[in-house]
Amino acid sequence: PVRERVEDLLGRMTLPEKVGQMLQLDARQDIGEIVLDKLAGSILHTSPAKLVEAAELVSRTRLRIPLITAEDCIHGHAFWPGATVFPTQLAMAATWDSTLVERVARATAVEAAATGVHWTFSPVLCIARDLRWGRVDETFGEDPYLISELGAAMIRGYQGEGLTDPTAILATAKHFAGYSETQGGRDASEADISRRKLRSWFLPPFERAAAEGCRVFMLGYQSMDGVPITANKWLLNDVLKGEWGFTGTLVTDWDNVGRMVWEQKVCADYAEAAAVAVKAGNDVVMTTPAFFEGAQEAIRRGLLVEDDIDAAVRRILRLKFELGLFENPRTPDAARQAEVIGHPDHTALNLEIARRSLVLLRNDGVLPLPPAPSKRIALLGPNADDVSTQLGDWAGDSGQVDWLPDGHPRELTTTVLDGLRELLPDGWQLDFDPAVEIEELVGDPEGETFPDGQPRPPISVGVPADPARIAAATATAAAADYAIVVVGDTVNLNGEHKSTATLELQGGQIALLDAVAATGTPMIVVLIDGKPHALPESALGAAAIVQAFNPGMRGGQAIAELLLGLIEPTGRMPISAARHAGQQPVFYNQTRGQHGSRYADLTQDPLFAFGEGLSYSTVTYDGLSIEEPDVAADGIVRATVRVTNTGTRPALETVQVYVSDLVTSATWASRELKAYRQVTVPAGESVTVAVEVAAADITLVDADGKRVVEAGDFELLVGPNSRPSALLAAKFRIS
Ligand code: IFM
Repeated sequence: PVRERVEDLLGRMTLPEKVGQMLQLDARQDIGEIVLDKLAGSILHTSPAKLVEAAELVSRTRLRIPLITAEDCIHGHAFWPGATVFPTQLAMAATWDSTLVERVARATAVEAAATGVHWTFSPVLCIARDLRWGRVDETFGEDPYLISELGAAMIRGYQGEGLTDPTAILATAKHFAGYSETQGGRDASEADISRRKLRSWFLPPFERAAAEGCRVFMLGYQSMDGVPITANKWLLNDVLKGEWGFTGTLVTDWDNVGRMVWEQKVCADYAEAAAVAVKAGNDVVMTTPAFFEGAQEAIRRGLLVEDDIDAAVRRILRLKFELGLFENPRTPDAARQAEVIGHPDHTALNLEIARRSLVLLRNDGVLPLPPAPSKRIALLGPNADDVSTQLGDWAGDSGQVDWLPDGHPRELTTTVLDGLRELLPDGWQLDFDPAVEIEELVGDPEGETFPDGQPRPPISVGVPADPARIAAATATAAAADYAIVVVGDTVNLNGEHKSTATLELQGGQIALLDAVAATGTPMIVVLIDGKPHALPESALGAAAIVQAFNPGMRGGQAIAELLLGLIEPTGRMPISAARHAGQQPVFYNQTRGQHGSRYADLTQDPLFAFGEGLSYSTVTYDGLSIEEPDVAADGIVRATVRVTNTGTRPALETVQVYVSDLVTSATWASRELKAYRQVTVPAGESVTVAVEVAAADITLVDADGKRVVEAGDFELLVGPNSRPSALLAAKFRIS
């Protein structure tokens, strides 16, 4: 009946009503104009008050077609007061745990659905290779397999048991595709990427999302080979809808249709742009109000026919019927909100995933801090008590919405300062001093507007260290038994259009680290940031380094627990860290021969490798053995490896399985992650871990752009991280 209901409704709609359904407008604008004048089918960035108003306005329209409400609930429903703000995607990826990620998405959906949100713009399936890019924090890192696994889990979590479930929300696979392959890391620049490269690395997570039943795909902002993504018929029609059989809905990114006119200048006006976008297969047009007139004008000029519009509107109406919005418009439900927003189970889950996301990168034995009757701790650094950075981008405290000016209630977030105050043993003394600031926003030196009149956003400028404050912090560190220095970046240095030219810690942070290191007090560096940073020598020489990324509301508690040894470190790097911005790219699965020689002045070795992370125990791998080294093309490579915990604490080990194809018809990566297993190894014990990889998954994209299994010799590489020196190897053959 959904099909019949769609056809029935479509048959009764006027052209303006149809075009209006394709519009998704920003609810921070005049909502009366959005609903009554533009007849918009969808809104985003809704506030509690706007949702109520919008529902009333819809009841005054001729056909009363319910609005579909979308929001960027990308690590929790983080724009809603009091909602659970989970770690960012990059931090979640450090858990390598798809079950946890699925549970986070489910909890997010439950909270969002109660507030009248039907659709989230998540997960991000972009591959982060240039760390200067502003949106690294929104990704699951650099590896297509890990991204596919975690992305699929998130989609399952959001969409729940199916769209008729009132707690299900639509998931969006974004940003389709190649958006992250920027120039110089600058967001939304032309993506320099071939079709083979797309198929090799950038498309697989999206293909998996389509197979997982993800209902919506969102485009990026980039152009490729001179074609704006909004106009890319090959990618949208031939690949996504044709080859992968995707029957869901496409949404543009922010004003993508308008950008073809005013920014990329490939269309003379909005009628041309509307025609190009519709012909390429776009359905929902985000925040281009002029599409309303443009699409109608395109029909008058013969650039489009009404059937083209009908095809898109059908896909939109189908979503609305499948969500059951005509029977239950799923408007905000105050009673339900009181029940589920910030539910204690979600808070417990938030703490669980924050604990699992912390990556211990260095430890000379200083951690965990030993139990002692009395110790003195100097807690220093700008991110030790900074709620906004701890929550990360796309959260209430990042200032992206105007109805949450004060952010989330302060008491919902535990910073590192809060966590240590709560958990330090009796008799320990804690001296806190942020000591430096990271950056301040100033007007763009080139002026307030771009040549076309668009406002230029402010830029971040590092705040120089104040010698008197550094001296005071140094004295505090010198008098302490341990100095914990919490550094990183801010939400102004992460996010859309917030790429950075450098990977260095900004402001007075390096001066602070240098000064504290010089005191000789054991220094523990904690990084709260949206991307891995190129650390100074003083930080690299620290007694311990903990990478926390943006760990969400419970992050400070989890970090304090980790430092005090109340939990075990379990996180693994989902992305490689560079020693210097100029060393990039440092992702592990580079094509052989791509960087055959290192820089004259710098090793090509990453600072921290993909998959890296320590525990409080020592773990060794041995005895890798392949069951049957001759495998048919439809067979399975099965192996076992022994993992031994030689330490005194339990370890949760992420056993990583890479495959190297020894000779390939076209250049290919020297190794690729194909599987991983997480196992708890009790102190002093060994566990034999069975791993397997289907031969059908050991593919490459040949020179003609086809994904194929090539018979021949391979190596199975198993170990604790992607560094060749860390991996055991065993040969097998596919025939
Ligand atoms: O969902 C986002 C997208 O990732 C970037 N541009 C704006 C969209 C809506 O807020």
